[in-house]
Amino acid sequence: MCKYIVSGGNKIEGKLNIRGAKNSILPIMAATILNENKSIIHNVPNISDVYIMIKILESIGCKVDYEPDTLIIDSSNINSGEIDEEYVRQMRSSIIIMGAMIGRLNYTKISYPGGCAIGSRPIDLHLKALKKLGIKIEEKNGYIKCFKENLKSATINLEFPSVGATENAILAAVKAKGITKIYNAAREPEIEDLAKFLNAMGAKINGAGTSYIEIEGVNRLNEVEYEVIPDRIAIGTYMIASAITGGTLEVDKVVQDHMEPICDKLRIAGCDIKYTENGLILVAPKKIKAVDLVKTCPHPGFPTDMQSQLMILMTLSDGVSVFHETIFENRFMHCAELIRMGANIKYITENICMVNGVEKLHGARVKSPDLRGGASLVLAALAADGKSEISDIYHIERGYENFENVLRSLGADIIKLKDE
Ligand code: UD1
Repeated sequence: MCKYIVSGGNKIEGKLNIRGAKNSILPIMAATILNENKSIIHNVPNISDVYIMIKILESIGCKVDYEPDTLIIDSSNINSGEIDEEYVRQMRSSIIIMGAMIGRLNYTKISYPGGCAIGSRPIDLHLKALKKLGIKIEEKNGYIKCFKENLKSATINLEFPSVGATENAILAAVKAKGITKIYNAAREPEIEDLAKFLNAMGAKINGAGTSYIEIEGVNRLNEVEYEVIPDRIAIGTYMIASAITGGTLEVDKVVQDHMEPICDKLRIAGCDIKYTENGLILVAPKKIKAVDLVKTCPHPGFPTDMQSQLMILMTLSDGVSVFHETIFENRFMHCAELIRMGANIKYITENICMVNGVEKLHGARVKSPDLRGGASLVLAALAADGKSEISDIYHIERGYENFENVLRSLGADIIKLKDE
């Protein structure tokens, strides 16, 4: 177990170069299972979730070569339909492999992912979508067994625009005969990225990125070379690191539309943000302004994955901001740690809290509760007076490549130490 030691007060500024999105690369890696060929993927982030997905692919017979930035996955020989329970426990989102597995094989077995720190995270919508596509599903003793039997196109109405359920439905439908229609699909940029990757491989998907997606089944896919989109959440996290420490940050590559839900709130907070030819420049405000209401919503609303980071910024704002978390039921775990650092946060209900800006945060010993909450505590430590210790940083390493090195290159006083 490792921890970060951060001495607050330095400006975070300079040039930031960020690799591909965690939430794109994971479903894209799952999608390679559908391909009886080689897939070459560039702009791959060097994060621990990618390594878990590599282990999963290798465990079913894929050949994987990975040198930071590029993954070469040869899925021509898949010799197992069973995913080891240990992997699903380590990474709940490995459930997105289910649609691809059953699209490729006649049978697959995966353990039920269960809940995680941020919420109970059921998969009922995934299973309903797969059943609609003619897949027979048996749930027993904590395992899900899928039998292809009568895979066919279908009309799927998602009760909620779940990112994972939309991905699983797309993956299972790529080779289903006929035209599958998904209504109320998730519109996150990572869904569009997955569809672009699949189309580059020979799939026929239209409408990804909107709430109506059509998939025309194909028989075979072909070799593919693809580059993953930049990670809007990692970029947003570093933008807040600059905003809260009074810095100026230049990001070399962004997709403007993907950044807007985040930039919109940061502009209200007083940040000056200008898009450049391929990237953007953020100049921190002299005084951080309160943003009033922050309600997390499916894309293009404000992302739940940025809620805790924006809250850190608001702890040092000039007024009151209310946060309403509508996506996950347990995503305020960073609040208790933040209060230890001097933040003024009051719970209104379990998923609504009120943040009153204070003049200063102070360093403290805190514990990462989850991936984004953990990264947010580091942001708080960068702005706080004195030294902070952030433990359980394995959460942060799931989704941020070289977090401490990137921050140090931008001026932070941060080191990573082994926990005694
Ligand atoms: C993905 C992202 C995660 C992000 C989330 C919301 C990946 C790897 N992870 O997670 O970073 O925070 O989208 O943008 O891409 N739900 C059900 N039944 C289901 C599926 C979901 O009730 O079958 C509920 C969940 O409990 C949650 C909500 O729907 O309350 C959103 O979940 P979903 O969009 O599926 O998120 P994930 O795909 O798990």
